[in-house]
Amino acid sequence: MSSIEPHGGVLINRVATGAERDALLSEAANLSSIVVNTWTISDLDLIAVGAFSPLTGFLNEADYRSVVERMRLADGTVWSIPITLAVEEAKASELSAGQRAALVGEDGVIYAVIEIESIYAVDQKHEALNVFKTDDVEHPGVAKLFSRPATYVGGSITVLNRPVPEKFNEFYFDPAETRRIFAEKGWKTIVGFQTRNPVHRAHEYIQKCAMEIVDALFLNPLVGETKSDDVPANVRMKSYIALLENYYPADRTFLGVFPAAMRYAGPREAIFHAMVRKNYGCTHFIVGRDHAGVGDYYGTYEAQDLLRSFPADDLGITPLFFEHSFFCTKCGNMASSKTCPHGKEDHLTLSGTKVRALLRDGICPPPEFSRPEVAQILIEGMSSQPV
Ligand code: ADX
Repeated sequence: MSSIEPHGGVLINRVATGAERDALLSEAANLSSIVVNTWTISDLDLIAVGAFSPLTGFLNEADYRSVVERMRLADGTVWSIPITLAVEEAKASELSAGQRAALVGEDGVIYAVIEIESIYAVDQKHEALNVFKTDDVEHPGVAKLFSRPATYVGGSITVLNRPVPEKFNEFYFDPAETRRIFAEKGWKTIVGFQTRNPVHRAHEYIQKCAMEIVDALFLNPLVGETKSDDVPANVRMKSYIALLENYYPADRTFLGVFPAAMRYAGPREAIFHAMVRKNYGCTHFIVGRDHAGVGDYYGTYEAQDLLRSFPADDLGITPLFFEHSFFCTKCGNMASSKTCPHGKEDHLTLSGTKVRALLRDGICPPPEFSRPEVAQILIEGMSSQPV
């Protein structure tokens, strides 16, 4: 097995199989049911397979308050993002602590059973200000939070049916599987890379800098819900495959998806992303410029500063920090302000808006910005969807 311990020490497994599953399924048919959307289904599946270890369910009141206030569970374990089950007040009034309820998808599938520990009202504005550092509804994470009911139900869950990926099934691995695979490959140090974007040259550069000092790269793109102007996961997946085939050593890279929703919580989400990658078996985790940020809500290196503020033992995974990277025409290679003495005029920087405009017109951005194989896939993807 991989040498790194899961967060909290034990890899959680809350997926019922065999007779236990059969018994719970027949019980669930008679329980009161809570309808859950795809975001919540992705959360509960990630809890069940241990990606969110040590969580065994949706946060109960004590853990929720502790996470919101101090980025730790009530027992002191580092946890920065509230993973919660929001329920309409009318539904909540039918439920009580100590009871079980069925978590049913909009498709009628019984995904899980929850053992209700607490039902509690929350102050969403307070949650937004603490987690997102803003209550601006223009922030996609805040907008999402305010769109949910302000009553949460906490408690351990047991999954009975798992969501089935629509595409790219072969890149879905549970943490127990990635841990086994990394061990089989003989990798002792693995760097995790989170992304919700196509991998451009700056991403490639920081990944490869990291690869120089560890055994392997786990490219772990987030493919759950993202905001509508992010590149769709299916297009991105094609671009990652092409990039790895053409520019990365196959025996030192591994591609597997992270089927979670994007919160856009910047610094707090960087902590969360790091803990999750530890559960997948990574020993190192890359945090570059404005990790998980959106707009101008967070400082360029705020996520790095927040990670640095926690004792290393409390994190248990080594963050690798990178400066804003770019192609320097004078250096003739990728660099950052740590390695390049030249001025901004020599640095190739393209805004997201500019890149989108080029791709939409069927024009490849310069190869110093994006590999042509990647750009081509994005151009094809653009013809049907926004990039
Ligand atoms: S994220 O929202 O998933 O974090 P993105 O996919 O853009 O966003 O970034 C993935 C990782 O690469 C993050 O750690 C981010 O900080 C880093 N990163 C993105 N662009 C750059 C860049 N130009 N220089 C340095 N790091 C970067």
